[in-house]
Amino acid sequence: MTPPAENEPALRERIVALGASLFDRGFSVGSAGNISVRTQDGFLMTPTNSSLGRLDPEALSVLDPQWVHTAGPKPSKEVVMHQAMYQARPQAAAVVHLHSTYVTALSCLETEPAIPPLTPYFIMRLGRDVPTVPYYKPGSPAVLADLQAAGERGPAVILANHGSIVAGGSLEDAVNAAEELEVSAQLAFLLEGRATRPLNQEQIQDLLG
Ligand code: 13P
Repeated sequence: MTPPAENEPALRERIVALGASLFDRGFSVGSAGNISVRTQDGFLMTPTNSSLGRLDPEALSVLDPQWVHTAGPKPSKEVVMHQAMYQARPQAAAVVHLHSTYVTALSCLETEPAIPPLTPYFIMRLGRDVPTVPYYKPGSPAVLADLQAAGERGPAVILANHGSIVAGGSLEDAVNAAEELEVSAQLAFLLEGRATRPLNQEQIQDLLG
């Protein structure tokens, strides 16, 4: 069952506002990153080569439930990545893809990055496990199967040598979780080499309910 979709003009405004907020705080730069939301008729998505900081509510891409582009400018080249996350998480109402600096740095490590469960909000927003999928060229549809399998494990996935993709039950949830992932990656760098006190299994289970 899919969640109820909200009124489209309001969703357009929120995509623009939250895109600008992410951009203004450095979570995305240039034309990197993209956002999609579920609507009553399919999906709204940020256009390819657009900056999240300078979106126009009247110039978003419209796609039908089968992800066929039906109106507005050409959608992001990452349509298949977004599709994979909605397929993995039927309750998702929005997906945010970022190249934010610290997650992307982790995604370039030789060994698969494991973000330690240091804070409650990491667990509450991102779950027990943030899996990583191998590198695929941006826009490659070949990512579909790997990303769908990873998205079934949790709402956030690290894309090797690329960035992150996060699904949420609302646009705000997806943005909040993407920000939490970036800040958790920053903490992992700040604390590297120091003795930390990760949350234990009992604390994690308590947070997950
Ligand atoms: P688009 O400009 O096509 O959305 O691509 C940006 C991006 O983040 C690629 O991974």
